[in-house]
Amino acid sequence: MIATGSEDPSGKLELTWPDKHRTLLTESVGGKPHWVDAGHWRAAEVRLLAETNSVGQLPGDPHAANLLITGDSLAALRSLLSITEYKAEHAGKVKLAYLDPPFNTGQAFAHYDDGVEHTTWLTMMRDRLVLIEQLLSPDGTVWVHLDDNEMAYCRVLMDEIFGRENFVATIVWKKADSPRNSAKHFSTDQDYIHVYAKDAPAWRPNRLGRTDQTDAAYTNPDNDPRGPWTPGDPFANKPYALGSYEVTGPTGNRFGPPPGRYWRVSEETFRELDRTGQIYWRGGGEARPRIKRYLASVGDLVPRTAWDYTEVGSSGTGSREIRKLFPDRPVFATPKPEALLERVLAVASKPGDLVLDCFAGSGTTAAVAHKMGRRWVTVEQNPDTVATFTAPRLTMVVEGRDSGGVTSSNGWAGGGGFRSLTVQESMFEEHERNLFLRAQNETLKKAVAAQFGFRFELGSGVLCGRAGQRRLAVLPDLQMAVARRLLNEVEQGQSVAVYVEAQPEPDVDEYVRKERPGSTVEMIPQAITRAYGHSLAPTAKRTGLRLLSHFTSTGIAASPQLGTER
Ligand SMILES: C[S@@+](CC[C@H](N)C(=O)[O-])C[C@H]1O[C@@H](n2cnc3c(N)ncnc32)[C@H](O)[C@@H]1O
Repeated sequence: MIATGSEDPSGKLELTWPDKHRTLLTESVGGKPHWVDAGHWRAAEVRLLAETNSVGQLPGDPHAANLLITGDSLAALRSLLSITEYKAEHAGKVKLAYLDPPFNTGQAFAHYDDGVEHTTWLTMMRDRLVLIEQLLSPDGTVWVHLDDNEMAYCRVLMDEIFGRENFVATIVWKKADSPRNSAKHFSTDQDYIHVYAKDAPAWRPNRLGRTDQTDAAYTNPDNDPRGPWTPGDPFANKPYALGSYEVTGPTGNRFGPPPGRYWRVSEETFRELDRTGQIYWRGGGEARPRIKRYLASVGDLVPRTAWDYTEVGSSGTGSREIRKLFPDRPVFATPKPEALLERVLAVASKPGDLVLDCFAGSGTTAAVAHKMGRRWVTVEQNPDTVATFTAPRLTMVVEGRDSGGVTSSNGWAGGGGFRSLTVQESMFEEHERNLFLRAQNETLKKAVAAQFGFRFELGSGVLCGRAGQRRLAVLPDLQMAVARRLLNEVEQGQSVAVYVEAQPEPDVDEYVRKERPGSTVEMIPQAITRAYGHSLAPTAKRTGLRLLSHFTSTGIAASPQLGTER
């Protein structure tokens, strides 16, 4: 067995697996996953997000729009958390994250044996869940949809990341509407959804509205003027001082509470209920009576943990919904039914809330979130899936051309919009273990602003970013003439972070620091890779990732040492 529970020296129960302290790059679809050390530039780089398309109406600030991102979810989540403009709209703001990852890594990472798949899967999930924890709002929840392959391991992993005290429930979704007779052992009926809250003691689910199905248990065989009712249990287990008496039924039989139980109302109240027709004498009075519970007096429903396909659809429902939307395309492999997501969204979000799904597939979460008036961000790695299913489906939703799924239950007729973004390629290029900057000009400036948390601002001068009173400049080199122009743009009381590709003259460096105290002049890419090591420290401490010491070393060698890879 690859993964084992173990006690670490602090006494904390922990799941361990080979290479847990490393991180995994899964950048190319169907490609071989690639292990690197935490803090390695490939694991820490903040990638830019470029708009490739937009559909429908967008809000004034494009960073606050609904986002369909094509690319690896790890890179996309890091960009949302790090690029200042996106961070402002997303970090700590996600009310609900629903993740439906590849269940069996055999499908996600071809050509690996089971043991390795298990390791890659756990690392893949750990790296993303750590970022999702930072994206969640204080009253947010994360829902991870799994089957038997990884549900037990993922629960322990989520305990580690979110805290065991923040486990809320595991939903069992009965997804099969018929048995699979070809099953080797059992025909599997269910999937699981682990629910964790950022703060479970404080979090409360929304109650669910009543439906015809939940109300079917209420009937009115005696034409009670109070309306439909159901026979309610008249007994309680908790001792009740006035709850031990006997009543006489219409046929003369006498009834008291069963041993160890008590009437839940006093004798006086019971008689009043009987006089006004609110007691149901079962079997004409031969069996113990019931107290009628009226439909009119019951409120919305507390969510339960067993969800049946008759209420929220089956896996077959999901496939039929996609087939209806795209009749001429081979059906997407594992779409979830819209009603399942409608239930998740109803329990854990309200209109206007931000919903995240970083394994979009055919886009069910975003489609349902849109129809239910939520803001959404969804990420899908496979560009073919986005082009074939996700983007056209969400466009149909915006344009009111999707009549299926939960459209009618939400009265959806179209509206709103979304932006399509693509995770951009790396700003770096590696040659024979040397690291070079590939990005140039404006792209390089944007990329450096993203790495260091500056808001990108390009004017007519030298400066290109701002973070409070700190300004940013990214330059090929720093001559004295440029330094003077630069300082003309930096007001007294402000400082500037200058990143240069070539070693500046020492007197120029000194001049900038002296004229604007607090300013810094550093070389790139070295300053960037150094910062990656530092920025990972809090995550590393919590999740057992080990950092490489060379990222904390200084130096201006043209080829910074790289982390080990395999
Ligand atoms: C089980 S499907 C999700 C199905 C989706 N819930 C639906 O209703 O259509 C998982 C999806 O995650 C995508 N995926 C796998 N690895 C990914 C990654 N690293 N980043 C983003 N998406 C990824 C797969 O391409 C696949 O489309």
